[in-house]
Amino acid sequence: MQADVSLVCSRVRVEEKMLLDAFDRRGVEVQRHDERDLMLDFHRPRKQALVHSRVVMLRPIAHSRALALSEILGSWGVSTVNSHETIRVTGDKMSTTLMLIREGVPCPEARVAFDGPSALAAAGDLGYPVVFKPVVGSWGRLVARANDVDAAEALIEHRAVLGSPTHSIYYLQEFVDKPGRDIRVFVVGTEPVAAIYRSSDHWVTNTARGAKTEDCPIYAELADLCRRAALAVGGGLLAIDVMESDSGLLVNEINHTMEFRNSVEPTGVDIPGLMVDYVISHLRGSERACRAGD
Ligand SMILES: Nc1ncnc2c1ncn2[C@@H]1O[C@H](COP(=O)(O)OP(=O)(O)O)[C@@H](O)[C@H]1O
Ligand SMILES: [Mg+2]
Repeated sequence: MQADVSLVCSRVRVEEKMLLDAFDRRGVEVQRHDERDLMLDFHRPRKQALVHSRVVMLRPIAHSRALALSEILGSWGVSTVNSHETIRVTGDKMSTTLMLIREGVPCPEARVAFDGPSALAAAGDLGYPVVFKPVVGSWGRLVARANDVDAAEALIEHRAVLGSPTHSIYYLQEFVDKPGRDIRVFVVGTEPVAAIYRSSDHWVTNTARGAKTEDCPIYAELADLCRRAALAVGGGLLAIDVMESDSGLLVNEINHTMEFRNSVEPTGVDIPGLMVDYVISHLRGSERACRAGD
């Protein structure tokens, strides 16, 4: 017997344990799948357990797997959280920037270039210091600040010689002189539900890099910015990184498989509970669709 809800994850980390507990408290049975064990037969979708779930919560660690699974399940008519489109846009910093700019959401000045000399020109155009990032990545990995043209040249050469194909796109941002912290806002649907300040002596303020967390009140300007940012990328279960700049709040990037273990205690918000309620609301949506199709 297949449960209505499936959770696909690579490992049961603290976050997945918290989510499974929240489903359990609500009396909702969840079938757990490790994506590494899946063998998806494109020709016989109905033979696979996953296709009989009414909603699949996707939490693989690798963005590329969440992207592939959401596409496959979507094409089989299975609802996923997050949706394929939201995963596609938010998993790629370049696509996120495009959507934010299209919807008029403030974000740092950014440039994209495909070759070393053009990337160097883009850095000069933005002005130093400048930040280079892989378009797909997390935990602050390979996010690099070049303070001058010599550093930029060295970065570009290293990427050209050592880089993987994902590094053949140079994504650059202006360096935002933020006040020793950034803001991480948790969004459910399009509604900000909790936020933390992430403070560090280092300019990279990921908690994976040791940043300290404390509660951040969701004031009106922050809430409004995050609602607009979430809408711009299609909404879902999201974590939005916001930077405080001299000219106001800027959306830096948006995450689709966020960690929240360090955020429940400081904010006092049951983040996994709200995430699970959102997934369950999809179940009710699919129930209505089923009845309508009867
Ligand atoms: N343009 C920037 N100006 C200042 N700080 C930045 C900038 N971009 C990133 N950072 C810092 O680096 C951290 C990681 O960058 P981010 O773009 O969020 O990448 P990741 O996906 O690895 O988290 C941010 O949380 C922020 O503290
Ligand atoms: Mg980030």
